[in-house]
Amino acid sequence: MKKIVPLEHGLIGLIKVPGDKSISHRAVMLSSLGDSTVEVKNFLRGADCLSTIGCMRSMGVEIVDAGNRLLITGRGLDGLSEPTNVLDAGNSGTTLRLLLGLLSTQNFLTTFTGDDSLRSRPMARVIKPLTSMGATIVGRNLNKNLPITILPSTSKLHGIEYEMPVASAQVKSAILLAGLRADSPTTVIEPHRSRDHTERMLEGFGARLERRGNAVTIYPIERLQAPTSIEVPGDISSAAYWIVLASIVEGSDVVIEGVGVNETRTGIIDVMSAMGATIEFLNERSSGGELIADIRVMSAQLKGVEFGGETIPRLIDEIPIIAVAAAFAEGDTIINDVGELRVKESDRLAAIVEEFNRLSAGSFEAQGDSLIIHGRRQLSSARCSTRDDHRMAMSLSIFGAAGAGVELDRPDCVDISYPTFYQTLEEA
Ligand code: S3P
Repeated sequence: MKKIVPLEHGLIGLIKVPGDKSISHRAVMLSSLGDSTVEVKNFLRGADCLSTIGCMRSMGVEIVDAGNRLLITGRGLDGLSEPTNVLDAGNSGTTLRLLLGLLSTQNFLTTFTGDDSLRSRPMARVIKPLTSMGATIVGRNLNKNLPITILPSTSKLHGIEYEMPVASAQVKSAILLAGLRADSPTTVIEPHRSRDHTERMLEGFGARLERRGNAVTIYPIERLQAPTSIEVPGDISSAAYWIVLASIVEGSDVVIEGVGVNETRTGIIDVMSAMGATIEFLNERSSGGELIADIRVMSAQLKGVEFGGETIPRLIDEIPIIAVAAAFAEGDTIINDVGELRVKESDRLAAIVEEFNRLSAGSFEAQGDSLIIHGRRQLSSARCSTRDDHRMAMSLSIFGAAGAGVELDRPDCVDISYPTFYQTLEEA
């Protein structure tokens, strides 16, 4: 159990958030496929990214782990070796889905498992396009049951043109990684643009991609040319907790340093700004194909807004914390098209409605695929379950810190993406 007490003053000063989770995974995977040694700086040592390291090591990749700095010696596109045991992706959907794509091209057998949450998450969305490229993936129930096994690929996969039913960077990335070794180009078309870190990093490794609107084409390649180093920007999904806390607690003025502000991830900035938040980007720069900025946030009077559609993939992981901001805003907030929340690390739509209402009764409602938040209702302190979902744990903590306090059951899941979260909150 973890007790979070209400903050007694505004959030002031400098905050540094850990490295971006999505980029950390991709840095490990692509560096493993290059043919030289890559230094990965500001790597996120969260449990999800450690699952990716574990999987790549099981396939013979040498990874020297010096804290948040890694040295990875790539084995080339065809140099991985067959793992001698089942690969454990833990809680990490990104590890499993991206590796399904990457390993579909390999002439060896791989079996994956994961924790209770991952074992019940949908995998057919990746398996279907990979199968149509020629991969063979078998399991008892491919959509909601691990373990699943990728059979050795004895001939090249075929390039495909695939229209994705949902915008998902994980699915898109899996197909692009499989397309790297296909016999012809592969095109993925998304209903809305999702995060494009895979595309940007692949370009940094010398791969050829073409982008047109929501479509991206990858051309097969014989070898990846790794850069000597990759600097992982701070994670905007982790910065989101401080952006919201500083906005809703009076007297706040913080600068969150070195945050990745790739436009496929900045939906939270757009929505918070539309709600009336005072946010500015300072010291904008770019590194490794990614935009970075320091983000200054001052407290403000927020008002409710309505959004959905193409904005959702740009803030998919931030919806719980935006819902917290909305509870402190004047008026109602309506968030449409959030059906994907049901298949995240927990059913986040149900979790928001059930757990958040304990801290402010009657504020949160789900109607179909929409989430409605009635702002400025009565706040209370309560005991809430994180449901072992890191983003629920951190959002509930911010809710309690800005409101009347909270007691969290099963708080340790923050290790997935932000191991030092409680420490930073306690020092605030
Ligand atoms: C991620 C993509 C998103 C996001 C997840 C990380 C990635 O998932 O929710 O936390 O690194 O590609 P979907 O692509 O399934 O929406």
